[in-house]
This record gives sequence, C-alpha cells and structure tokens, in this order.
Amino acid sequence: MNKVDVLLGLQWGDEGKGKVIDVLTPDYDVVTRFQGGPNAGHTLEFDGQKYVLRSIPSGIFQGNKVNIIGNGVVLDPALFKAEAEALSASGHDLTKRLYISKKAHLIMPTHRALDAANEAAKGDAKVGTTGKGIGPTYTDKVSRNGLRVGDILENFEQKYAKAKQRHEEMLRAMNFSYDVTEIEKEWMAGIEYLKKFNLIDSEHVINGLIDEGKAVLCEGAQGTMLDVDFGSYPFVTSSNTICAGACTGLGVAPNKIGDVYGIFKAYCTRVGSGPFPTELFDETGETLCNNGHEFGSVTGRRRRCGWIDLVALKYAVMINGVTKLIMMKSDVLDNFDTIKACVAYKVNGVETDEFPYELNDRVEPVYKELPGWKTNMTKMKKESEFPQAFNDYLDFLEDELNVPIKIVSVGPDREQTIVRYRLD
Ligand code: GDP
Ligand code: IMO
Ligand code: MG
Repeated sequence: MNKVDVLLGLQWGDEGKGKVIDVLTPDYDVVTRFQGGPNAGHTLEFDGQKYVLRSIPSGIFQGNKVNIIGNGVVLDPALFKAEAEALSASGHDLTKRLYISKKAHLIMPTHRALDAANEAAKGDAKVGTTGKGIGPTYTDKVSRNGLRVGDILENFEQKYAKAKQRHEEMLRAMNFSYDVTEIEKEWMAGIEYLKKFNLIDSEHVINGLIDEGKAVLCEGAQGTMLDVDFGSYPFVTSSNTICAGACTGLGVAPNKIGDVYGIFKAYCTRVGSGPFPTELFDETGETLCNNGHEFGSVTGRRRRCGWIDLVALKYAVMINGVTKLIMMKSDVLDNFDTIKACVAYKVNGVETDEFPYELNDRVEPVYKELPGWKTNMTKMKKESEFPQAFNDYLDFLEDELNVPIKIVSVGPDREQTIVRYRLD
C-alpha cells in the first residue's frame, strides 16, 4: 500500500521543519499542513533568499508540487492573503497549486481579541501565546461554534455576524477592550481572496492521490512538547502536533502512515512560558542564543535555550512512532569544549528516565557530559568529513533514542544539509 510520510518537531517547535520539508520536497508529489495555523513560522533559505512561511506548506519552492492546507489547520484569511501575495510578488504564484480544505476553521479578528483577553486574565500564569487567536479558534471548533472555509461560499455574512456577536458578548463579560475595525477590513478582503483558490474536500483529494501512488509528505507545525494532550500542559498550543494529528488533520487512516521523520535541534529551545528542565540562564545559554540566532521567526521573541533533553526526546519518539531522526543546528555547538545531554530527571530526589505527568520545579536534569568536536562543520557536504567527536555524539544519541539519525543540518541554507549515506 502506498503510504504517506510525516515530518514533525520533537521539541518545543522551531526545530527547522520548514528547511527540511523544502529539502525533501523533490522526493514528493504533495506537501500538506495538517494542524496549527499562523502561530507557525517556518524558515527556508536558499539562493541567498530567506522566506518565512506561516500557513502555506513549505513544499511550494521546489517544482510544481501540489500543496494542501488540510482540515486540521486554522486559517486567518488576512494573514494568509498577506503571505500568499508576498510570495506571488516574489514570483511564486500559488493559486493553481495550493489547495485548501473546506473543513479548515477560520480564525476571526475577534478570536485574536479573545486570545489577548484570555492571556490578560491569566496574568503571571499566561501561556505566552503567539497572539494569533489559535486557542479560541480551536475552542470554537470543539464547542461546535466555528466557521469553516466552506462557509464562505454561502450566506457568509450572516454566519460571520452571529459568530462575532457571540465573541463580543464573551469579551464584554471579560471586560476586555479591543478594536477590530481595521483588521476586520483586511480580514474580509482575505475572505474574497480565498475564493481564488481551490477550496476542496481535502480528505477525498488526499486519499485519491495516495491511491494513485503519489508520494505525500505531511508537514507538522509546533512540536511534540507543545501538543495539547502530551506536551507540557497547560503551556501548550491547542492542537495535536503529534503524528496522530496527521490522521485527524487530513483524513488519512493510521495504517497509511509510512515514515515518521522526527526533527530536533542538537540542543533545545522554547518560546513563551512554561517548564523547560534543561534551560540555561548562564553564559552558555547566551552563547546558544547568539550562535543559533534564537529569536522567533513570527514574533521576534527571544527563544529560551538549553541542553538537549533525551528524556523528553525519548517520550516524543515513542508518542510519534519516529522511524528516522533529523538533527538540526549542530553548527551552533561547533565551538563548544564540552556538550551536555540530559539523560534522566531527578524528581523528588529519585532518578527516572520516564517523562513525568507534569514538568514542574521539582524536575531536575541529570547530565552526561560529552567532548565537543571543535570544528567548523558549516561547509561540510558529506558524512565522511565529520570529526570523530561529532560521530561519537551521533552514536550516543542513536543509542539513547534507538532510531537512526538520517539527516544532519549544519547551517540554515538548503545546501547545508547532509544525508548520511550509510543509512541510504
Ligand atoms: P521551524 O518552525 O521548525 O520551521 O523552524 P524555524 O524556522 O522557526 O526556526 C529554525 C531557525 O533555524 C531558522 O531561522 C532557520 O533558518 C535556522 N536553521 C535551520 N537549520 C539550521 C542549521 O542547521 N543551523 C543553523 N545555524 N540554523 C538553522
Ligand atoms: P513552529 O511551527 C515555537 C508556542 C507559543 C506558546 C504556545 C501556545 O514555528 O515550530 P499558541 O499561539 O499556539 O496558542 O501559543 O505555543 N508556539 C510555538 N513555539 N514554534 C511554534 O511554531 C509555535 N507555535 C506556538 O510560543 O508558548
Ligand atoms: Mg518556527
């Protein structure tokens, strides 16, 4: 049976998913997003150009591939229009090869206001969301009050007015002041713009493509530690970012999932609030942030940095059924004398390598120290050039995680990607 492959983040997002989706696209006919929305920021660099994609799949730059925004995605028409128009201005017209599920939910301007109101109400306990209305939109989906892309084709104004009124009542009850007049205009223009695209019943289209033998790659957004069920709840996003999310977010049956590419940084980052056991508050953390340019691609927020966490990674490998690993940003560690990896947690003084119910202040990382490779790897093209200490680091990770590391990334550019030949 022809199967679809999934690529997803194993940490707290920003692992480099966009870059690798772009690198892998030539091997596929179709690239799809299955969850999340414009909270994502997927960066691609090639030919001296940099692009940040938010709702549009990262398969749009390599050939005339079909790209699909699946039913599990939440779409903001205003942001989508801005993103698609910017791409069109740079010579990438998408109207003929980008398909959008009619079942994807619409992020309304009042969802953004509700996102801000919810955060304000939480005070110090705020999630640190991207402010894009993600949580309120998924809340409306689950409470059966949402508007879907398919709704724009008939009696939309009435449906919109009703949903907006509901939100206004909620905002009033929260005593939250806001003004959506300006963004509402852009948003309505976005609704008209959406009509230029192929609005489809994506589950039929995708399954049809699978039956035709087409190679389909699903692009995850966020990361496993931000999954609403398995992440560091409540400091998570509002969708299932894990592999199972590709099934519900596209209408692909579980037995049609093929390879699961799990992507991680050689260290670890997180944006927004919430626990992060291996976070560094010292000079090393500062160096990781500076070397890795760890600032959010969407919000510009400084990313918190720390050592790789193998307890969390093992958990992510298990939850997703990862078959191939991809390690990113190894170049950021090129100058380190030693590198640490968290191999266990100490919880109330007891050591465990099992990911706990809750990551709280009582969870302390237990580290193993490894020698650094002290070599500039950014121009390397093949595995045979890797320094011994780097190979030792890869072997150590593979032993711990029990999954082969198939791809290593040594810089942000498309070309700075090494597929390990011994695994081909
Ligand atoms: P995504 O959300 O998972 O697609 O990741 P982001 O694009 O938000 O963040 C990854 C950042 O790291 C981007 O700025 C990329 O250009 C950059 N990047 C990707 N791979 C590498 C790498 O191997 N080395 C370095 N130094 N930067 C990388
Ligand atoms: P990509 O796809 C990193 C984080 C936010 C916040 C939490 C909830 O680029 O990896 P939300 O706006 O989703 O309600 O915010 O999730 N977050 C991300 N962090 N990368 C992302 O996407 C993220 N999308 C959301 O910072 O902590
Ligand atoms: Mg990102």
